[in-house]
Amino acid sequence: MDLYYPAHKNKLIALFDLCVLWLYSRFFALLIALFLSFPKRNRMSHDNGIAGTGKARILKNPLIPENDFFVPGREFPLRVRQATATFLDDAVNDIRAISIKFSDHHFDSPFDMELNTGETSLFWNAASFMQFAKLREEAHAVCYVENIRNYPEGASGAIVSLRRAPDSFAHLKYYSQVVYLFKGKDGVQRFAKYRVVPFVDVQEPGLQVDPCEYELSNQRVAPHESKGRNYLKYEFEERVKREGVKYKLQIQLITAEKNQNPEVFNNMVLWDEKTSPWLDLAELEISNTLDWSESIITTFSVNNMPKDMGIIPAKSIYDYNSLNYFRAHSEIARKARLLSLKIFGMVKPIPDNDNRNSEVWGA
Ligand code: HEM
Repeated sequence: MDLYYPAHKNKLIALFDLCVLWLYSRFFALLIALFLSFPKRNRMSHDNGIAGTGKARILKNPLIPENDFFVPGREFPLRVRQATATFLDDAVNDIRAISIKFSDHHFDSPFDMELNTGETSLFWNAASFMQFAKLREEAHAVCYVENIRNYPEGASGAIVSLRRAPDSFAHLKYYSQVVYLFKGKDGVQRFAKYRVVPFVDVQEPGLQVDPCEYELSNQRVAPHESKGRNYLKYEFEERVKREGVKYKLQIQLITAEKNQNPEVFNNMVLWDEKTSPWLDLAELEISNTLDWSESIITTFSVNNMPKDMGIIPAKSIYDYNSLNYFRAHSEIARKARLLSLKIFGMVKPIPDNDNRNSEVWGA
């Protein structure tokens, strides 16, 4: 495990690490903006999705420290986007997502949160994320062979996060995975993870059951799959129209310690639910879906966070918090995509044809 967090006490080395982090994050964001977002009008990931609107209501929960933002009873307009991480086919074996913003604007909001299925991820810091990006193969939807061989912890992340052809977005559980700051009115520094779960508990569909290496890397639509290429988005649209979709936003908290053990920030390590239970924070109600164009321009950012609840500073590309550092510095990619859509027009919707396992637009 050579992609972990070496603690540097030497100030010069620490400064060097910080400069490397800064440079890599800018370079990575620029690469996405120049080769993906602007010329292709694509997201770095999660291109295949549908947005919706509704409202978020903060719940009264005495176990959540009083704070200026999550005030019990407070209501916010809500915009969500449900998406499949990689392929332009809903029936693949893939990570699914919900992203939420407490506003009905495609870009601005006081609180955004992007969450994927699975309690843990396929990468745990910027260094492992760049390795993941480098080793990933998209051809024919068999993606993670090299990554899984090299990094067993990435394989464990894939097992818990991929969902094969689930019956509905509304039946899945979504995790922020990475850790955020949380400071209440008592001034105590805490750290937080978030998750979004169905309002009424249901058995999560599409889980991996003891997959072998090949099954795990194979994200292809199963042979003889009868579900169509856009079935998940259609199902969501119909469900919202019929009865609405209701989720709970939950938070898990841990109090900061003086010489903080960095493993608390490791998104591959779960926090003990006995000492840090999941607490109901807000009720999310989706009552309307948005059309293709509005779904495409809707975008989320880790920079849209209330004061005292944002990202945790990172020290190097090996620091677990460098994942959010990278995300925070990828604004240029989001803006390049929106600018390109304005200049060159909307991307084509995903057709309902039989060209399965595709990640090529319009094909
Ligand atoms: C565990 C960590 C991460 C999680 C849970 C996560 C989650 C997500 C989700 C759910 C979306 C889709 C949002 C939507 O529907 O528009 C997304 C998009 C994106 N993510 Fe991540 N992500 C993670 C790490 C990263 C990292 C390390 C980067 C590095 C820069 C990154 C950059 C992006 C970009 C550029 C987009 C597309 C934004 C756009 O064009 O609208 N993400 N991510």
